[in-house]
Amino acid sequence: MPRKILVIHGPNLNLLGEREPGIYGRFTLEEINKELSALAAQKGVELKIVQSNHEGELVEAIQNARHWADVLVINPAAYTHTSVAIRDAIAAVRVPTVEVHLSNTHAREGFRHTSLVSPVAVGVIMGFGKASYLLALDAAVSLELDAKK
Ligand code: DQA
Repeated sequence: MPRKILVIHGPNLNLLGEREPGIYGRFTLEEINKELSALAAQKGVELKIVQSNHEGELVEAIQNARHWADVLVINPAAYTHTSVAIRDAIAAVRVPTVEVHLSNTHAREGFRHTSLVSPVAVGVIMGFGKASYLLALDAAVSLELDAKK
């Protein structure tokens, strides 16, 4: 069973609560992180959480995950649809990765329908708002580690 889980939040997710609340909800990133920490404690797993608005910092956080994390949970936010660098970092580190989104990107604009990350993720959870993250953490905890790519 995974013991160490790294959660990475991509750009603009630091603005949750004030950012397009009709789409993303009124809760803040801090509230999500508190709920994730409580769930991690309940499941008996160690959790680290990182947020960055910078593509290179996200790449470095993914690279560093290979020294610590058993599983990565990532919401690459807008970089989902654009970043070959983030996709390549996930493929390079071979840490099983759960992709997560608050909104159902397939029900939104066409440019959000493609994810460069999904092909290198174990699975994707989207569309459940804050609960997407809790479901993703649950999925991460339940992963069979020998299913590692
Ligand atoms: C998002 C969806 C992305 O299309 C968007 O750019 C985000 C957030 C989500 O969690 O629903 O910033 O990843």
